[in-house]
Amino acid sequence: MKFSYPSRLTLAQTPTPLQLLSRLSAATGGPRIWVKRDDMTGSGVSGNKIRKLEFCLAKALQDGCDTVITCGGVQSNHCRTTALLCAQLGLRCHLILRGQQDSDLDGNLLLDRLAGAEINFYSNTEFQQRDQAIYQQWVDHYAAKGSKAMVIPVGASDGIGLWGYIAACKELKSDFAREKIQPKHIISATGSGGTQGGLTVGNTLYDLGATVWGINVCDDEAYFLNKVSADIDQWYQGYQHQIDAAFDPEQLQINVIDGYVGAGYAQASEQVFELIKTVARLEGLILDPVYTGKAFYGMLEQIRQGRFADTDDIVFVHTGGIFGLFPQRDQLQL
Ligand SMILES: Cc1ncc(COP(=O)(O)O)c(C=O)c1O
Repeated sequence: MKFSYPSRLTLAQTPTPLQLLSRLSAATGGPRIWVKRDDMTGSGVSGNKIRKLEFCLAKALQDGCDTVITCGGVQSNHCRTTALLCAQLGLRCHLILRGQQDSDLDGNLLLDRLAGAEINFYSNTEFQQRDQAIYQQWVDHYAAKGSKAMVIPVGASDGIGLWGYIAACKELKSDFAREKIQPKHIISATGSGGTQGGLTVGNTLYDLGATVWGINVCDDEAYFLNKVSADIDQWYQGYQHQIDAAFDPEQLQINVIDGYVGAGYAQASEQVFELIKTVARLEGLILDPVYTGKAFYGMLEQIRQGRFADTDDIVFVHTGGIFGLFPQRDQLQL
C-alpha cells in the first residue's frame, strides 16, 4: 500500500536484530519464539520510545519549539528516553512525574536527573484530575519566558507517535524475508497503547499477514480497545492525505490479551520475577518487571493454552525497560 512518512529524525539504532530463542522455545513446546530486540535501539535511550520520538521530536523542531514537556510514572522509560534525547538535541526537557518527590534516585529517575531534566512531581489523583491544566500551566510558564514548549502525551502514544511502530513494521517485513518465516502473531506489552497501535496499522500497511496482540500491563481490555482505536483515529485524521485511499482504519482488528496485570501497574508477581531470572539464564535476555516481564509471562501462558498453535513462528517485540529492573532488585532474591 502506498503512503508517505512525515518528517523524522534519525535517532534509534536500527534495524534491531530479530533473535530466535531456541532453548526457551524448546522448553515451552510451542511455536518458535523470535524476539525483535528493540531493547537495543540505543544505550541510555534504549527501548520502544525512541522509535516514536523520532517523529515527535522532528515535529517539535519543525514547529520551532525549544522545550519538550512530557509525563509518566517516576520510573517512566518514556521520560528517561525523552530527557536524554532532548539533551542530545539541545532542547529543554520538563518532566511531569506521577509519584513521590522523595523517590530513590535509581533506575530511570537517576538518568532523568543525569540528563538535566526539570522535574515536578504530582500525585496520581492530581494528575488524573488535572493533567491538561498541568500541561497548560507549564506551557504558559515557558511562553512567559519567551520559550515555545511542545507537550508529548504519556508514552508518546498519539497520532504522531504511532509512526514509530509503523516504521518498525518495515523492518519486520525484511526480517521475515531474510529468515524465511511467516509469523502469524506479533505480541508486545501495552502500557499507553502507541506501540500496539503502530504495529496494528503497520501490519496492514506493510502486509505482514500477522495478528497483532497487546498484553496490557495496567488498566484493562476495554480501556485499551478504546485508547488504541482513538490513537489510530487521530493518526488517520492527521495523515489521511498521505495514505492510499484503499486503506480503511475501520477494518483494523485491535486485540488485547488481558489478565496479566497482577496486583497493579509496576507490581509484578513472584512468577514474573522467576521468569525474568529464567530467561536471563537460559537466553541472556533481560526482561523488566513493569512491562516486558509481565507481557512475556502472559505470552508463554497463552502458548501453553494453545492460542498461538496455528503457526510455526511468533514474534515478541522486546520494548526495553532494563532500567526499571534496578529499583526492584530486592524482589529478584538473588
Ligand atoms: C519498556 C516498555 N515496554 C512497553 C511499553 C508499552 O508501550 P506503549 O506505551 O506504547 O503501550 C512501555 C511504555 O509504556 C515501556 O516503557
